[in-house]
Amino acid sequence: MRRPFIMGNWKLNGNKDIVNKLIFNLCQKMNDITGCVVGIAPPVIYLERAREALNNSPIVLAAQNVDVHLSGAFTGDISANMLKDVGIRYVIIGHSERRVWHKETDEIIAQKFSILKKIGLIPILCIGETAKEKAEGRTKEICIRQIDAILCSQGVDAFYNTVIAYEPVWSIGTGKSEVPTQVQILHKFIRDYIMKKDKEIANQIIIQYGGSVTNENAEELFSQPDIDGVLVGGASLQAKVFLEIITIAMEKKS
Ligand code: 13P
Repeated sequence: MRRPFIMGNWKLNGNKDIVNKLIFNLCQKMNDITGCVVGIAPPVIYLERAREALNNSPIVLAAQNVDVHLSGAFTGDISANMLKDVGIRYVIIGHSERRVWHKETDEIIAQKFSILKKIGLIPILCIGETAKEKAEGRTKEICIRQIDAILCSQGVDAFYNTVIAYEPVWSIGTGKSEVPTQVQILHKFIRDYIMKKDKEIANQIIIQYGGSVTNENAEELFSQPDIDGVLVGGASLQAKVFLEIITIAMEKKS
């Protein structure tokens, strides 16, 4: 049984005051939430502050990135050990914004996946096609290429207790969400692909959708059997809207 997983990716947003207020407002309502895993990924500099503000709340913390190295002369980087040390459980990797702005390749992302598994953190592996690739009918091919970068080097077992976030690049921050029934087709395709290697792993893997998720499209998204969760960007910066998305997940998936 897969528990719905709702993660807020704050990206490069916030300050001390916003971290405190947003978390305070989320925590006020968390007692009413059952059966879901809820997480937030603030900027790395605020993770410790966030952990303190969460104060034993069931909300889990994620980082937005990790380095491939564990220590050494890598100025400006943060290691998986360090993230674990400050209480982080999940790490977003392969986000299209890092693929584009930081030139992260499938190979680098596979290395990050591997190091997270080694240290005992849970990767949230982002995959998805650009508008051009979608127009060319290459969505499935792109997703499989991004999954295969890990599958072919680390085997299907590496996907045990991990999360895949399907985020079509063209839908991120644009207000243009993919049609939920289309997302369902793609998620089922991904699960079936993993199923061919290992049924148990395919059945337990969490497949999130990300890209302009709001309180308005959450209901239809969570009505699809293979949409196990959402990775929310902009809408996760408003506690009221994020809580509405969580409540919808709880109602639709219970
Ligand atoms: P938006 O919800 O702002 O489209 O961002 C999605 C995203 O990139 C989450 O990782």
